[in-house]
Amino acid sequence: MDKRTGTIAPLAPSARSAVEPFIVMDVMTAAADLEAAGRDIVHMEVGQPGASAPRPVLDAASARLETGRIGYTEALGVRALRERIARHYGEAYDLDVPASRIMVTTGSSAGFILTFLGAFDPGARIALASPGYPAYRNIIAALGLEAVEIQVGPDTRWALTPDHVAKAHGEKPVAGILVASPANPTGTMTDAAVLAAFGEYCAHTGTRFISDEIYHHLVYDDRAETMLRFTNEAIIVNSFSKYYCMTGWRVGWLVLPDNLVRPFERLSQSLYISVPELSQHAALSAFDSIDELEAIKAGYARNRALLLERLPAIGFDQLLPVDGAFYVYASVARFSNDSTQFCRRMLNEAGVAATPGADFDPVRGHLYLRFSFSGTNEAIAEGVRRMENWLAK
Ligand SMILES: Cc1ncc(COP(=O)(O)O)c(C=O)c1O
Repeated sequence: MDKRTGTIAPLAPSARSAVEPFIVMDVMTAAADLEAAGRDIVHMEVGQPGASAPRPVLDAASARLETGRIGYTEALGVRALRERIARHYGEAYDLDVPASRIMVTTGSSAGFILTFLGAFDPGARIALASPGYPAYRNIIAALGLEAVEIQVGPDTRWALTPDHVAKAHGEKPVAGILVASPANPTGTMTDAAVLAAFGEYCAHTGTRFISDEIYHHLVYDDRAETMLRFTNEAIIVNSFSKYYCMTGWRVGWLVLPDNLVRPFERLSQSLYISVPELSQHAALSAFDSIDELEAIKAGYARNRALLLERLPAIGFDQLLPVDGAFYVYASVARFSNDSTQFCRRMLNEAGVAATPGADFDPVRGHLYLRFSFSGTNEAIAEGVRRMENWLAK
């Protein structure tokens, strides 16, 4: 207390809360402010499907609501959903995965929190690619672990490799490796051969592999391979958010090695008790909505083709290979060496929201932008038109 004025100084937040802002969320807020003031904004910033959840999902949720009973569930998730997810591994990858290894989570985001808490001790170093999804390093930092961000580039087709990790490990031990394939913000995939090599590297060195497979069914000319093909020791992270168009329902899942199931269950019992029951019952129907989801994916493919053609023509060049997901990561160097300021101007002047690369790569991100093409064909075409006119001025 200040004795002279009698006022009480506010208590400080914790040091671990001092993580970087998730810039795309800040861009969304700035766009929402403009919309509240009457402006029309094209959203190419956020990685969120423009489509709503498929009809069978909505019907399942309505039917469940009619029962009137939405309660806690088992911490590992509703049994029927765990069994359905296990069956999905047979259908999609021809792999036999028992339901006992599946854990339902509150989006993949909670899956990451559980993974870093349940598989690593404080101070553990986790290797990941930069550019990469910013929440990884923020969750890692908040939980008292250390993110070892490794700059990847065209020499490895923007993928992290066992050689990268071996080098970092030589400097100071690395306990875990996190790979997203296809990745955010680049959309690039890691070759199955590289995943297999990671499997061997991890077995030899006792390193834990975390495979973010959230964009697996959003691959355009190929198919993604699950890390489960190469090892049962990896932690597989997945979600209903992206391909299944269920971001706001907050349902994801983990495939765990047998000996991690009970520790993760104990953590989730106390951290959040259970995943919302309504969302779990709705998610059960997501796997029966493939025709609808493939039609939505075909829309992304049209957006992707448009951006791959038009972005270089209007000056956003050096596009990274867009194997999957719904992002194009492009150079803005022709116009600016400060992508954050460029995004702000583009939002205000052209009415197009995109995400500055600084969100994904603190070192080189000032020269890049990420465009999300998860919106409708009309919206993305309008965004391209606006950028074209604005840059031509
Ligand atoms: C690579 C990646 N992983 C995980 C997530 C988190 O998704 P959710 O918590 O909705 O499952 C995202 C969201 O953008 C992402 O891009």
